[in-house]
Amino acid sequence: MKHEIGRRQFLARGWKLGALLVGAAGAWTSWDVLRSRAEAGLGGVVRAARVDEVPAESTIYIRAAQTYLTRHEDEVIALWQRCPHLGCRVAWCESSGQFECPCHGSTFNRIGEYRSGPSPTGLQPFGVGVVEDEVEVDTGAVGRGPPPGAETIDEPVRGPTCIEGA
Ligand code: FES
Repeated sequence: MKHEIGRRQFLARGWKLGALLVGAAGAWTSWDVLRSRAEAGLGGVVRAARVDEVPAESTIYIRAAQTYLTRHEDEVIALWQRCPHLGCRVAWCESSGQFECPCHGSTFNRIGEYRSGPSPTGLQPFGVGVVEDEVEVDTGAVGRGPPPGAETIDEPVRGPTCIEGA
């Protein structure tokens, strides 16, 4: 009889221990998944900014995603900093209201559409999601830049360029 109770206690403790381990594994997995989304750098999902921090007539630069964010008609747009010509980092020029490439002078409007220079396309976009008012940029897959052609926004160059020859 004494042996019987000991086995029952052993089994009960085993079940409790098993349940505890399963719970701990679930908690660890959840924490690990959430942590990696928040801290990922280029190549992953980057939590970039609050939605209300993204300007409609300018851009903000997100270093962790190597990306410029801007807004167009309530849509947040993420543009990779890499020039489609030979890969230089384009810069946002506040005085002209356009992106300008310091290497060979390509220019792009605020939403990344091609304006001038040797670049074969506009700037390449990243996917954007909004989670609880936070903009998340998925830098795991870059889209194609728009082909040269008519610009879809009416925002002409508004002043002096930042780069000679742009
Ligand atoms: S690398 Fe940008 S124009 Fe050449």
